[in-house]
Amino acid sequence: MFYIAPSLLAADFSDLKGEIKRMEDAGANYLHLDVMDGHFVPNISFGAGLIASIRKHTQLIFDVHLMISDPLKYVDSFIKAGADIITFHYEAVERPMDVLKAIKAKHIPCGIVISPKTPAEVLFPFIGVADMILVMTVEPGFGGQSFMPECLDKVRILRREALARGVNLNIEVDGGINAENAVHCTEAGANILVAGSSLFKSKKPKTIMAQMRTAAKEHPFVG
Ligand code: DX5
Ligand code: ZN
Repeated sequence: MFYIAPSLLAADFSDLKGEIKRMEDAGANYLHLDVMDGHFVPNISFGAGLIASIRKHTQLIFDVHLMISDPLKYVDSFIKAGADIITFHYEAVERPMDVLKAIKAKHIPCGIVISPKTPAEVLFPFIGVADMILVMTVEPGFGGQSFMPECLDKVRILRREALARGVNLNIEVDGGINAENAVHCTEAGANILVAGSSLFKSKKPKTIMAQMRTAAKEHPFVG
């Protein structure tokens, strides 16, 4: 399945309810929520309080991307706030497999994220264990950065490995994604596209989402 996840970080924060509805009406599947702590990444965004307050306004799946140093410490508050999927960074913790299992034990789907400098192979042990793998296509911390096409090699490596093992892996990509480069993402094997600026800063997010869906249909994984 193919999913589109608008990243709320690029929304007009003075009208979050309206902005979320705009994405829902345009055909989004997930709402990607970037939590930044000013420690793991050099920026601060929002936390569980904001997520709880928007939860009542939408049915979208809340895809919570934790860019924080101690994800396990805060995970209960994000679950309580209404997270549907939680992802945390491989680089943020000492024992990522233990953290993944501890979060999954709370009966919430959990994924693991790698930043641009982290090689794909570190995630091989997580194929078949994690509910999702997120490959960053920008350095985490800020919206509106330029897409790094070289990161797609890692998506290809992970998709190939998952296929070889017969695992139907969800691979998400995040950072600088737009209607033009979506095709490269889907060809590399990604099936979930996060897009912040390209969707929220557009007056026609529905058209962009349609182009992304066409990319997924006409340009699937090429091996
Ligand atoms: C970056 C975040 C991304 C970002 C995407 O640290 O994880 O989700 O908000 O925004 P764009 O699409 O503008 O790069
Ligand atoms: Zn993100």
